[in-house]
Amino acid sequence: MNNSTQETHVEKDVHDNQMNTVGNKNAVEVGTNVNPEIETIRSILNRYPHAHRDSLIPILQEVQDLEGYLSPKCIVEVGRHLMLPTSKIYGVATFYNGFRFEKKGRFHIQICRGTACHVKGSLGVLKAFQQSLDIEAGRTTRDGLFSLEVVACIGACGLAPVISVNGEFHAAVTPDNVRKIIKTYRKRAKEQDHVEEK
Ligand code: FES
Repeated sequence: MNNSTQETHVEKDVHDNQMNTVGNKNAVEVGTNVNPEIETIRSILNRYPHAHRDSLIPILQEVQDLEGYLSPKCIVEVGRHLMLPTSKIYGVATFYNGFRFEKKGRFHIQICRGTACHVKGSLGVLKAFQQSLDIEAGRTTRDGLFSLEVVACIGACGLAPVISVNGEFHAAVTPDNVRKIIKTYRKRAKEQDHVEEK
């Protein structure tokens, strides 16, 4: 789902939610018949009882730290709490590279774009991953196997250009070995699935 579709869908939800909101605009209930994701978000929001727009970034950061991404439901809840339209929240969140709107893939690939990696050609590496996986940075492949993230220096400049896949570092990556790296993890996924089937 692209962001504009998400926004349309979410805006309807937030409208419905706001129509259902009575009384204290910042009150959020935690408890009965609420799914775990919403419970988590509400427990965060409850720590910001009189929050305004200034609290948007820290709230989104906390939600993402716990949930791994910002789901449409989360955007609705945060919008309802801060009385902000979802389009505003998307606008702010998409301005910062650090927010994700999709679940991470089974293999989460972080491409370092810090200075040392940039100088050694990390832009070409990023483009090669985007092309091979057919996704942009910040997105997840349809099969849920891979997600891409651009990060600043990950503290291994001596290995530049470096990438990390679920915390495993790959050093001196070139655009030419990107397909091989992807193939390695596809194979690993099959092996893992095969073991689990036994
Ligand atoms: S710049 Fe890439 S690890 Fe430091």
